[in-house]
Amino acid sequence: MVDISANLSGIHFDSCIMNASGPLDTTLDELVDIAISAAGGVVMKSCTIEAREGNPSPRYMDIEWGSINSMGLPNLGYKYYNEIVPKLKSYGKPLIASIAGVASEEYKKIVEAFNSSNVDILEINLSCPNVVGKPQIGYDFEMSEEIMNVVGDVSEKPWGVKLPPYFDFIHFEEMATILNNTKISFIVSINSIGNALFIDWNSEKVVIKPKGGFGGLGGKYIKPTALANVRKFHELLNKKIKIVGVGGIYTGIDAFEFILSGATLLQLGTSFSQEGPPIFERISKELCQIMGKKGYTTLDDFRGKLKVIE
Ligand code: SIN
Repeated sequence: MVDISANLSGIHFDSCIMNASGPLDTTLDELVDIAISAAGGVVMKSCTIEAREGNPSPRYMDIEWGSINSMGLPNLGYKYYNEIVPKLKSYGKPLIASIAGVASEEYKKIVEAFNSSNVDILEINLSCPNVVGKPQIGYDFEMSEEIMNVVGDVSEKPWGVKLPPYFDFIHFEEMATILNNTKISFIVSINSIGNALFIDWNSEKVVIKPKGGFGGLGGKYIKPTALANVRKFHELLNKKIKIVGVGGIYTGIDAFEFILSGATLLQLGTSFSQEGPPIFERISKELCQIMGKKGYTTLDDFRGKLKVIE
């Protein structure tokens, strides 16, 4: 019998596969669709102090090997997500609130509000590339550290940070040093690759409106970068900090590769947006089949055991 359950901060997930904050998780109806699917947990859209309309449309486009988006954090405000916690918890799955902001006081206020709910876990989003005029916090190490210290002081829930992709070993090392000195339980790695440009050569035009067409790249384009981030952080972080892998997971093979690189849980963004809730059951089955063929019965049998060429 193959078991793909996982544990994060003492919270049990029947399946290691769930949605990523972003697509199809803004309204209660969308979140219920995830809760009644085979997803192992439910992640809510990153919320801000005030509700946001987000950027002008078109702001999301499916493209050849994935997606480009500049949504701009459209969400219904943290009070809405706090109010729907009891309803979502009634489906019996771990529930994750995702929190976005531009300053540490905003994160503090929202974390404090969720402390008094029965949400299970908090994901602190430090990596949205699409808020016009605001940099991705995860590329500002000082600011990231300040926010993590503030959240660490107030959070009564297990919490972690959603990071942008890093590309340079020095940056991995700097961020890992900060993470190893905070109270985080996990990282989510990676958010979309920010400020990519996709062009429709026929019309000679960009495909999304905000920021002159620049947006976050997701899907198959980003899997190798996501795997590299999971792997590098697996090498650098202390083993109490778990890794939630995200970026280009479309199949059981992709899921297997992320666990092999060191991930504990997995999230689906673009692929979930394209295929909808049935994707959780499909990828879970494919992962179980691969594990069965290889003689693995739990994720621990191969987690992090990627081989290198000597
Ligand atoms: C968005 O709403 O712009 C995407 C969210 C994110 O990248 O964190």
